Amino acid sequence: MIGNPIEHSKSPDIHLLFADQTGEQLNYEKILVDEDKFSQVVSEFFTNGGKGLNVTVPFKNDACEFVDELTEYAKNAGAVNTIFKNEHGKYIGANTDGIGLLRDLKKTLRIPIANKKILIVGAGGATQGIVEPLLNENPAELIIANRTVNKADTIAEQFKDFGNVKSCALNEIPNQPFDLVLHATSAGLQGNNVELPVEIIGPNTCCYDLLYSEQDTPFMQWARSHNAEKVVDGFGMLLEQAAEAFYLWRGMRPDTGMAYHYFRPELVQKPHL
Ligand code: ATR
Repeated sequence: MIGNPIEHSKSPDIHLLFADQTGEQLNYEKILVDEDKFSQVVSEFFTNGGKGLNVTVPFKNDACEFVDELTEYAKNAGAVNTIFKNEHGKYIGANTDGIGLLRDLKKTLRIPIANKKILIVGAGGATQGIVEPLLNENPAELIIANRTVNKADTIAEQFKDFGNVKSCALNEIPNQPFDLVLHATSAGLQGNNVELPVEIIGPNTCCYDLLYSEQDTPFMQWARSHNAEKVVDGFGMLLEQAAEAFYLWRGMRPDTGMAYHYFRPELVQKPHL
């Protein structure tokens, strides 16, 4: 895995567990790279026998430029989080974040998307990667709200052919309950909280923070204090995007349910376990 910073990543532990499960030999390392050395380090990695690479902040766009071909999701998201070489020796760039979120929502949390009202808070790279897979599930509406409204407008415009997607500023969010509120800003990383109208939480609302964190994030604390039905962090998404990357590299699907047991034993009451 390549990024900067990278020291707190859980991905090596996840991939080692997947390798144990599937009987694969795997060496998964964190590679800390200077901003201007990305291409050189990636080329060396594959020349030295590397099978596949995860890419994280701030290189997801550099990775788009680096690869020979992009999957549909990666092309539309404008971001790559997984690189592998195909049988013709070409570098392929994939984006497994959106698939990861969808698998967590549908398989683990049992949250249906079809005909539901969804709000995404934030319009950065994380949002870019999840809009298309969400719209493919036919929600009743998907609203992207952002501090800088034109970034939300741009993403909504870009994906308008995939479904009912709208954009607004944070202070224009409709005062109505949503079925699913996805928090996709980086405000929590700087210890800030995004102010949101309490009316967006109804008795059946799921509040999902795309960040993963052992402790509740500020958004999760806010959601709990307003009695959202479900409040979760992005650990499930992290596991599922890793499983999809593992599949692209190794052709085998790890057991993410078992991985939940291992990493988050407190979640064992989840219905699929
Ligand atoms: P990522 O790849 O994690 O999405 P990003 O592309 O830098 O990171 O996007 C960060 C998002 O968090 C943006 O939507 C940003 O809002 P702006 O587009 O207005 O900058 C949002 N964000 C960061 N700090 C915020 C804060 N204090 N309040 C509200 N939104 C914030």
